Amino acid sequence: MANGAAQGAADTVRPLRQINEQGGVGVEHTAMSDHDLIARYDGRVPRYTSYPTAPHFQGDVGPTKYLRWLGELTPQTPISLYLHVPFCERLCLYCGCTTAVVRQEAPRVAYAELLKAELRMVAGALRHRGRVSHIHWGGGTPTALPPAAMLEIMALARELFTVPADAELAIEIDPTTLTTAHLVALAEMGLTRASIGVQDFDIDVQNAIGRRQSFEVTQSCVLALRQIGVSSLNLDLIYGLPKQTVQGVKRTARQAQALNADRVAVFGYAHVPWMKRHQRLINEADLPDARQRFAQRAATAEVLEEGGYVAVGLDHYARPVDSLAVAMHEGALHRSFQGYTTDDAPALLGLGASAIGCLPQGYAQNAPTAVAYAAAINGGQPAVVRGIALSADDRLRGELIERIMCDLSADIPQLAAAHGADPAPLLLAANSLDRFAQDALVRWDGRRVEVTEAGRPFVRNVAALFDAYLPTNDTQPRHSSAI
Ligand SMILES: C[S@@+](CC[C@H](N)C(=O)[O-])C[C@H]1O[C@@H](n2cnc3c(N)ncnc32)[C@H](O)[C@@H]1O
Ligand code: SF4
Repeated sequence: MANGAAQGAADTVRPLRQINEQGGVGVEHTAMSDHDLIARYDGRVPRYTSYPTAPHFQGDVGPTKYLRWLGELTPQTPISLYLHVPFCERLCLYCGCTTAVVRQEAPRVAYAELLKAELRMVAGALRHRGRVSHIHWGGGTPTALPPAAMLEIMALARELFTVPADAELAIEIDPTTLTTAHLVALAEMGLTRASIGVQDFDIDVQNAIGRRQSFEVTQSCVLALRQIGVSSLNLDLIYGLPKQTVQGVKRTARQAQALNADRVAVFGYAHVPWMKRHQRLINEADLPDARQRFAQRAATAEVLEEGGYVAVGLDHYARPVDSLAVAMHEGALHRSFQGYTTDDAPALLGLGASAIGCLPQGYAQNAPTAVAYAAAINGGQPAVVRGIALSADDRLRGELIERIMCDLSADIPQLAAAHGADPAPLLLAANSLDRFAQDALVRWDGRRVEVTEAGRPFVRNVAALFDAYLPTNDTQPRHSSAI
């Protein structure tokens, strides 16, 4: 989510950030109380890590179309690789990722062989030697693969593609399962960025989510990664977990800050037990309600901002010198399946079970299960089972939504003109911004929308106004809570 803004919304109206120690949220400048705002806006909206969002992918994008799309890429098109490893040594009860507990070595080794076969397949489909600017290992837990297998995959990637010395190499890390042998391998492959899962340091919360992880283990992991030369370190926190309190999340945020992370991601817990059956093991009576979630989010932000981090988009905080904050100020922030990113490569090749790729022509997703993925790759075919070819309208709305999610602002007619499109349908949708403006969540002058600081937690709701696929009835896909 592990996985995507010029600060157009620098703002003096901060009505929702007056947190008292009991977790209440005082309201400063708006007639709407936080309670009313939550009631009004806490619908279920997508996280907009893509547009159209994954539930709207269809089966008409398969291996043939994907191979054709790859063959159409030009030698000048920078490429990113995303390698998904769907294995873990434990299953955290809250987990929303595509993963499974696999403890035996043999299936992990076999999976690494499949990744190599897929790498050869996609590299062979290009009509040139591709140039790779970013490589991201995600999961699951990528270090569930044996170190030697990871090194072989990286060596093969360098053999098949041109990977410049300054290419970013990032990985998601579970500190409790990271071995010294993995650290040695990560150093050897030239790791530049790591994202460490923390969630919450409170022991009661950890017991409620089935994830025991001491501060000391996390700290050792941070130090070890720094020692092998990782220059950009991210920590993942979650609010809205069972047994969490405002005091507790503040403590965790202070501990995260003490670890001197360059970035902190603060995700709202996505409770989707209809999709992730193991989340049913979470006692729903222990879950904070929308108002408490809201207060926890604000409290975490307050601690991090007081500690010198700047807010980036919906849910990231970065040191001002970190490349994510710099990209935000330069209007060069992007949003992808990995969340907020500086990666601007127009072609993202997704490798592994469930991985989603994004090409200039559209999105392509691999078979979600390791079994179906293996069957396709062993059959000599890409494992793509669904996706979507982008229409001109998708591209326009996709860019508008990305700019809102990243910059918290957008000039609608200017963007439409850049796409050679009529702004009228977007301006029609923008009529609903009046309601957000009345609630002090946006400034809206009829052409430019700016999400205010008070509106930051609701930026997905603002983006959703321009989503032409958004469900209008209960038969459509369900998303997690907006707040
Ligand atoms: C794919 S996990 C990989 C990290 C690694 N396996 C670990 O657990 O440390 C990336 C991040 O997704 C976030 N995440 C997972 N499930 C989530 C959920 N249901 N709601 C919100 N965030 C979630 C967590 O913050 C986690 O660290
Ligand atoms: S270790 Fe990470 S990917 Fe695995 S279950 Fe826990 S949160 Fe999910």
